[in-house]
Amino acid sequence: MKKGKKLYEGKAKIIFATNDKNLIIQHFKDDATAFNNQKKSIIDGKGILNNRISEHILNNLNQIGINNHLVKRINMREQLVRLVKVIPIEFVVRNIATGSLTKRLGIEEGTILNEPLIEYYFKNDDLGDPLISREHILNFEWLDVVSLDWINKECKRINYFLQGMFRAINIKLVDFKIEFGKTNENKIILADEISPDTCRLWDVVSEKKLDKDRFRKDLGNVMQAYQE
Ligand code: TMP
Repeated sequence: MKKGKKLYEGKAKIIFATNDKNLIIQHFKDDATAFNNQKKSIIDGKGILNNRISEHILNNLNQIGINNHLVKRINMREQLVRLVKVIPIEFVVRNIATGSLTKRLGIEEGTILNEPLIEYYFKNDDLGDPLISREHILNFEWLDVVSLDWINKECKRINYFLQGMFRAINIKLVDFKIEFGKTNENKIILADEISPDTCRLWDVVSEKKLDKDRFRKDLGNVMQAYQE
């Protein structure tokens, strides 16, 4: 597989073309941003860990029939993935109230939700990724109703699987964000990454934060937490 030209650079990853038009290379940077790029830093080795963690999770999801873009990890920082057109919606799944949910609605921090809550955010940095409803998605035809219902089910399957996977290593999956894309054959698959950058992960006993909140809230020891 030949690495081609840079196609896109985002806040945490770079996308390169390959000699296969259906495949691209996803490169994980050490850059960390929060609050829509207002807070920035470089965390040595973060990209290497996220590459491995996301590979592990996406491989496991593939094994239970959750189709996703990962083909294989190529090296310490790069993965070969299928090219998709990313759907401009961030799907957030929550099990425990924290973060923007507590701020927006005054729900008490740490409340265990009656059932997993799925929220949609419009993926647009200029607008600060605003919260949107199912009706916005259907009205603006970002997805048709069948695809949206299918993605909602997929979000729940992913949540149940990841909750169990993390529970087995004494970590609570508090919430996470995922993205989906359409392949050249118009099939919807899970894309992007699943890592401590995109999840909230708390130690079961101590509730120590093992995710990007350590960076967002200046809690220190970001890399130790990601390694743990
Ligand atoms: P929130 O509570 O800030 O809305 O975050 C919900 C989840 O989504 C949390 O696991 C962190 C993740 N997330 C991202 O992956 N990217 C983002 O830009 C934001 C705001 C949150």
